[in-house]
Amino acid sequence: MTHPSKAADFVDWRRGQISREIYVSEDVYRRELETLFTRAWLFVGHESQIPNPGDFFTSRMGEESVILVRDKAGVIHVLLNSCRHRGMKVCRYESGNTSLFTCPYHSWTYTTDGRIRGIPLYKALYEGNLNRDEWSLVEVAKLHNYKGTIWATWDPDAPDFLTYLGDAKIHLDQALDCRDGRPGGSEVIGVHKWVFPANWKFAAENFLGDTYHNPSHRSVDMIGIGPSALEGVKGRRDNELEQAQHVWCSFPAGHGVHSAVQPEGYEFVDQFKNDPEIADYFRYCHEERKRRLGEDARFLPFVGTIFPNTSYHGRQPRSLCSWHPHSANETEGWRFFLVDADAPTKIKDFLRTYYMRYSGPAGMTEQDDMENWLYATKASMGTIARRHNFNYTQSMGASELNPVVNGIEVRGDVSQQVTEHMAVGFYRRWAQYLDQEPWDVLMGKGDERFTPKAAAE
Ligand code: FES
Ligand SMILES: [Fe+2]
Repeated sequence: MTHPSKAADFVDWRRGQISREIYVSEDVYRRELETLFTRAWLFVGHESQIPNPGDFFTSRMGEESVILVRDKAGVIHVLLNSCRHRGMKVCRYESGNTSLFTCPYHSWTYTTDGRIRGIPLYKALYEGNLNRDEWSLVEVAKLHNYKGTIWATWDPDAPDFLTYLGDAKIHLDQALDCRDGRPGGSEVIGVHKWVFPANWKFAAENFLGDTYHNPSHRSVDMIGIGPSALEGVKGRRDNELEQAQHVWCSFPAGHGVHSAVQPEGYEFVDQFKNDPEIADYFRYCHEERKRRLGEDARFLPFVGTIFPNTSYHGRQPRSLCSWHPHSANETEGWRFFLVDADAPTKIKDFLRTYYMRYSGPAGMTEQDDMENWLYATKASMGTIARRHNFNYTQSMGASELNPVVNGIEVRGDVSQQVTEHMAVGFYRRWAQYLDQEPWDVLMGKGDERFTPKAAAE
């Protein structure tokens, strides 16, 4: 297929149609690496993974390897994992502690803040020609530590992280705050990493709030794999949100979330009768959260995607996911599992087994999702398939609910009201990154409003 010069031509957001090319084309994929992953804020890891000076965790930004490291003075850096001499990876471990990164190729060494410490035979071979201060490891342009989560961008002109996050903050907060309502305080208890043959956007889109795909999980809902794992308890999350009003939001920067609001005066649901110690812990958290947050405690997170490739599960199983691109049709998923850092060991272990049962490459729910993404990718690669757009018109006619695409909020009963507005808002921004629009446009300035009338024209 001949590609239009503007990515925006792939995304007809007014009519709710998107070209399959954006999921399968290597050409589009290259443009994503060059224009999107080099500018957007990306999640790289959690400070609990690098608690001590010299601790590091190798992460990724787009396809590129980066080192999340705490330097000798305790300052956190994100450095490109590529030697300035001939590009060798200076760190080939997933995590650890070091005082220096020594390049295996010709042994240039770098300190944990990225500066050159030593070059073999410097005096004889380089003195007068090479200024060591100019050859540090490449460092991200901006870094932000938000409640322990580390985010970075290569673009010095990017807005600060909190501006970028916008009102999605209160939704993401629910994944990062303690179960009893204290702000922050989470830690990573493990990271699952696995590769699957699907375009990364299928995963990112799913977590924007695609509640419509629930039938995919019918088998796990029937078996019941909730936290309590009690016999006879159906569902994936012990039905905690059964009485809730559901909320779907799209944000100007392209993020999308699905959260929930519990009914007034909602009570703790005791699903842990087989272990009173665990039940007591969760009951305490429930009451303490209500005491701390008052009415706001009714607000509970569910899922969301922070543009472009960081998704979260807010409560159960609480985690952050990065969808790292490998190619147009291959993605590496990383799930960072979160618990309250000061939770009792028994609770952490209890949650660990629940998380693994649910999520990650062997998790029963994640398997359902991945099967959809990988077959959707495969079945969209054919010449005929690529001629036919995907349909994103769900709920678009409901103008009384949704007068705009980016910056909407929809509330309703999960069985009757779902929406694809978050996805449409996401792809609208996605196209603008590929078309190299300026930051004020990427943050929603001048957004044209959607009306059904516009769709009809
Ligand atoms: S590539 Fe690193 S020292 Fe030569
Ligand atoms: Fe799912």
